[in-house]
Amino acid sequence: MPYDLVITNGTVATAADVFKADIGIHDGRIVQIGGDMGSATRVIDAAGKYVLPGGIDSHVHIAQPSGPGIVMADDFDSATRAAAFGGNTTVMPFCLQERGQSLTTAFRDYRQKAEGAHVDFGFHMIVTDPTPQVLGQELPALIEEGQRSVKVFMSYEAMRLDDAGILATMDVARRHGAKVMVHCENEDVIAFLAARAAEAGDLAPRAHATTRPVAAEREATHRALTLAEVVDVPIVIVHVSNGAAIDEIARARARGVNITAETCPQYLVLEANDLSRENWEGAKFVCSPPPRDTAEQKNCWLGLQSGLFDLFSSDHCPFRYDDAQGKRNPEGLRSFRHIPNGIPGIETRLPILFSEGVMKGRIDLTRFVALTSTNHARAYDMYPQKGTIAIGADADITIWDPQIRRTIKHSDLHDASDYSPYEGFEVTGWPETVILRGVPIVEGGMMTAKAIGTEVLRRGA
Ligand code: URP
Ligand code: ZN
Ligand code: ZN
Repeated sequence: MPYDLVITNGTVATAADVFKADIGIHDGRIVQIGGDMGSATRVIDAAGKYVLPGGIDSHVHIAQPSGPGIVMADDFDSATRAAAFGGNTTVMPFCLQERGQSLTTAFRDYRQKAEGAHVDFGFHMIVTDPTPQVLGQELPALIEEGQRSVKVFMSYEAMRLDDAGILATMDVARRHGAKVMVHCENEDVIAFLAARAAEAGDLAPRAHATTRPVAAEREATHRALTLAEVVDVPIVIVHVSNGAAIDEIARARARGVNITAETCPQYLVLEANDLSRENWEGAKFVCSPPPRDTAEQKNCWLGLQSGLFDLFSSDHCPFRYDDAQGKRNPEGLRSFRHIPNGIPGIETRLPILFSEGVMKGRIDLTRFVALTSTNHARAYDMYPQKGTIAIGADADITIWDPQIRRTIKHSDLHDASDYSPYEGFEVTGWPETVILRGVPIVEGGMMTAKAIGTEVLRRGA
């Protein structure tokens, strides 16, 4: 029987090896690596290209409720289209339980929103209201069903849990076999500094960065790790921005805490100074934790190189600059406190790391694959179906052309925001062809197949 697709002449990389081999694909799976392929319905010649596992972005916010009047720019259609163009074949967005809401209802409604996605997807749950009903019944049932990752916030007044709430949520996660993702910033420190800044009339976007200092992240990281240590639950420290938080992670790992650590492009190539741009343009860089400085960028690079970080995710959280309730704000609300937190980045995550990391010699291809695909699949129970090039794995493959040079422009991107914080950034290397379960969905700058993304069934331990 001929293969559906054969990829010839490429340089294949996994998280372990780089080698030359042809790849045969049948019925959405990889069925042969190397050797004589026989006939094929379609052949893609990947000479001079890298053939990598499709990107998995395990930290994205899509169509998530964001406060009164504030609407996230992307729905699943636009976000997953942008994800595909950026070399991704799986994304993992968050289902938010709003306070007073049932987690089960939130999850059912959110799953419906994902219908029609252009890439595969899995979910994380966000618990903001750990009632006896949620912790006693709803969360255990969802974890048993396969939703094996729960996020809690230490920051954001409308979402944060106190330590007692975090401990109780962690305990349920431990007993039912889930890991707990934590947004680590000390909200009381931030509220104190934000009130002081407002009193001083310091309302411009830059105050977002000065009121969310490294100390607030370091303290919360230490506390989250301590709580996970006490409960003995696996923890994911998301969007780490600085060396002090990295040190806390290294120390806790040495004590035996089971930690997955994540950083994001904004902590490698953006800076707090970007929030000082004139005419409220600094609002385009408002995310939490905020970008830091060049010394902290170096610390994050060291963390990527040393293996301290397991995951490189986008934390895509798209708002529009020109929306009345978006990044620009109506005149009367012009304060950093009203700028929604989060920046778009689902399409630019992989090109930025490929260019700044692989092409500039900071990391090799195997580390790139681990940080952008394999480790996400391992961390969230999708491996080896996802995240690798191996016989029997889903044929989720991205073919990279290392010769392509591009200047990032939002007008070329596919999300539904109206700006990119990376506008003008130059990259070398681009994901040219994206294959989802054996079907090329992006080729030559075009989407070539209609939506076929499905929910990934996550395996139990
Ligand atoms: O600013 C950010 N990161 N917004 C997204 C929500 C979160 O904190 O992950
Ligand atoms: Zn967060
Ligand atoms: Zn996030």
